[in-house]
Amino acid sequence: MTVYQPQTLFDVAGGADRITEMTTAFYEKALVDPLLSPLFKEGEADHAKYLAGWFSVVFGGPKDYLTERGDLGFVIWKHVAMHITDYQRARWVNLMRQAAAEVNIDQRFLVPFDRFIDSVSRDVQANSHVPRDELRERLGIMK
Ligand code: HEM
Repeated sequence: MTVYQPQTLFDVAGGADRITEMTTAFYEKALVDPLLSPLFKEGEADHAKYLAGWFSVVFGGPKDYLTERGDLGFVIWKHVAMHITDYQRARWVNLMRQAAAEVNIDQRFLVPFDRFIDSVSRDVQANSHVPRDELRERLGIMK
């Protein structure tokens, strides 16, 4: 008898390797994009890895990012005072979609992923306009 193995969205996407391929493709595009490169130009070399680590947490994969980097509050805080515009948010989402298509991420992952990046990027954008001290307080981040 075949035992059914439930899969997380992380598994459906193809695991850490495929997700990292996607975030690497995204970051390569972002670094040369006229709207995004000003935000990313001082970025960390490990950005693609961090992004993949966060997607792993969110989509049911290994949770190392939580101890190695931080939680949702930390991720939101990473965008503090970036003042992300509507155009920059839309470009970010489009480049991530392009990256996902390029690395042939499974279609079944694509639909929930698309919804996730659309809504979470709006949240990230809104918080990127909140003054530092206010955001710090909201997120409960110690000075
Ligand atoms: C679904 C929406 C988003 C998610 C889940 C997300 C997630 C992340 C994560 C995990 C990091 C790295 C944190 C770390 O250092 O460990 C990060 C950094 C960053 N994100 Fe986002 N982000 C989103 C949307 C955006 C948008 C819309 C923009 C700009 C248009 C943006 C620009 C940046 C930049 C510039 C950094 C810092 C790069 C660096 O210094 O490493 N992000 N984001």
